[in-house]
Amino acid sequence: MKFSDWLTYIQQRTEAVLEATLPAAGVAPDRLHEAMRYAVLGGGKRMRALLVHASGSLTHARPEQLDHAACAVELIHAYSLVHDDMPCMDDDKLRRGKPTVHVEYDEATALLVGDALQTLAFQVLAESPASTTASGELEVIRLLAEAAGSRGMAGGQAIDIAAAGRELTREELETMHVHKTGALVRAAILIGARSGEGVSEERRRRLDQYAKRIGLLYQVVDDILDAEADTATLGKTAGKDAAQNKPTYVSVMGASEARRFAEDLLAEAIDTLAPLGGRGARLREVAEFIAHRAF
Ligand code: IPE
Ligand code: IPE
Ligand code: MG
Ligand code: MG
Ligand code: MG
Repeated sequence: MKFSDWLTYIQQRTEAVLEATLPAAGVAPDRLHEAMRYAVLGGGKRMRALLVHASGSLTHARPEQLDHAACAVELIHAYSLVHDDMPCMDDDKLRRGKPTVHVEYDEATALLVGDALQTLAFQVLAESPASTTASGELEVIRLLAEAAGSRGMAGGQAIDIAAAGRELTREELETMHVHKTGALVRAAILIGARSGEGVSEERRRRLDQYAKRIGLLYQVVDDILDAEADTATLGKTAGKDAAQNKPTYVSVMGASEARRFAEDLLAEAIDTLAPLGGRGARLREVAEFIAHRAF
């Protein structure tokens, strides 16, 4: 299957599983359930789901075995966006081309949507294991919990909030990005690799090297797009980072240097896949997509 067809195929599978997993809008409490569906469905590139499937294909797991793990990672990601947009965080009005959850509903609902999506992710993993062994599934749960928590995404968000209006060194900036976005992106890749019968320790180490670079690349490109793309293309308000004095790769090293850094990360990520030969093709294609995406 060519990459663009595979992208659509995984996006559609992910959408269907998310749709079936989320409580129906008419189920009480209906406003919360409606808002959860609003936050998750009908938008998003589903890149983390794609990464679960791309690395999961190395374990011989069938796509049906990977769907629920992919859905769990997307649920955590969707929760992180709902909270990221709230007035106490980035105060954003637009997400995925629609009003943000606290604008469409209210702040208390947005807070609860995040809480409920986060726990739903772990319920999904408990109900539909991606690994063929119990110890493998526990590792999947651990990977997701660690990536979402204070030593992963939530910790990165704390660093981000504390960094507004400050100047960060490149090292500090990297730490922030590796946590707030890199951790969950990395987890998607490692969870895929832990699905089915798993991969050898040597392959896992390779995939982890790939994952660390892709995780950082993801946020570097997000920073570049925030500075260079327009609101209609992004589906979120462009230029927010500069407006809010957020340190980013563009503010710290300038746009052209940031683009060069993104290309370096992409090249390094692709290099780590070399020993996988043809089996690494999907991971290479996803990396290229992430680096060169327009939104
Ligand atoms: C945006 O993520 C926020 C970051 C963590 C960089 P995405 O660009 O993956 O957002 P969606 O899911 O496609 O809307
Ligand atoms: C998002 O970083 C990181 C998350 C954990 C959600 P940003 O604040 O840059 O994401 P956008 O640009 O609002 O999507
Ligand atoms: Mg933010
Ligand atoms: Mg934001
Ligand atoms: Mg951003």
